[in-house]
Amino acid sequence: MKRYGEFNALNGASFQTGEDARVVALLGPSGGGKSTLLRVLGGLLVPEEGSVLVNGVALPKDPEGALEALRQNGFVFQGYNLFPHLTALQNVTLPLMVVHGQSEQAAQQRGQELLTRLGLFDHLHKRPAELSGGQQQRAAIARALAPKPRLLLLDEPTSALDPVMTGEVLDVIRELAQEGQQIVLATHEISFARQVADWVVFLANGTVQESSTSVKFFYDPMSSLAKEYLTALTKYR
Ligand SMILES: Nc1ncnc2c1ncn2[C@@H]1O[C@H](COP(=O)(O)OP(=O)(O)O)[C@@H](O)[C@H]1O
Ligand SMILES: [Mg+2]
Repeated sequence: MKRYGEFNALNGASFQTGEDARVVALLGPSGGGKSTLLRVLGGLLVPEEGSVLVNGVALPKDPEGALEALRQNGFVFQGYNLFPHLTALQNVTLPLMVVHGQSEQAAQQRGQELLTRLGLFDHLHKRPAELSGGQQQRAAIARALAPKPRLLLLDEPTSALDPVMTGEVLDVIRELAQEGQQIVLATHEISFARQVADWVVFLANGTVQESSTSVKFFYDPMSSLAKEYLTALTKYR
């Protein structure tokens, strides 16, 4: 259970993924609780009731412990939240040095390696305002991946992007998934979720309506809300 004041943003949000689930897609209408659930998974919000186990380990409930959990996960917010006054490279290296205590040399090496891998070699020294939306999002993903997080949490990573940039970012996410990175991703990109996710959690009105393998969810959704959502999303595609 997660409340904002009197409002129950998550209530009845119990689910367990299959043990071998590597990529989990959070689907469902806006306002359903996807971002709230990601924040709880990331240790940014502590639920008032209930507990969260990631890979069998309970997330701590005290603020200090939650902060530690946050450091172990990589979070990419809806909107990129890059530091606007820092270059792409500095956006990756600064948290590595300040939060994770790495040396400047190690941070530089990791930053260059990751940004290059994500196709940003020519843009290492540009600030966010000089990058396209897709490039900013890839830089944000590089920043989140830099400390080698257990879980990469992505909140609608393509919602602000045009189709070409969306494709670039989805390619990166697919590659990471293929390399074995554990990912929890909120998205409305249904065909992508269908291809890449092993597990789907469908959230509406703060409640988990369905939690199943992605194959089962897409072929045979159980809840009427999920059926409506899938119909609405596929109508013009
Ligand atoms: N900081 C907040 N304070 C109060 N209400 C919030 C806050 N964040 C989200 N909510 C509410 O919680 C519900 C779930 O929101 P959210 O988790 O953002 O859903 P989604 O990401 O699926 O669109 C919505 O009704 C939203 O208005
Ligand atoms: Mg959201």
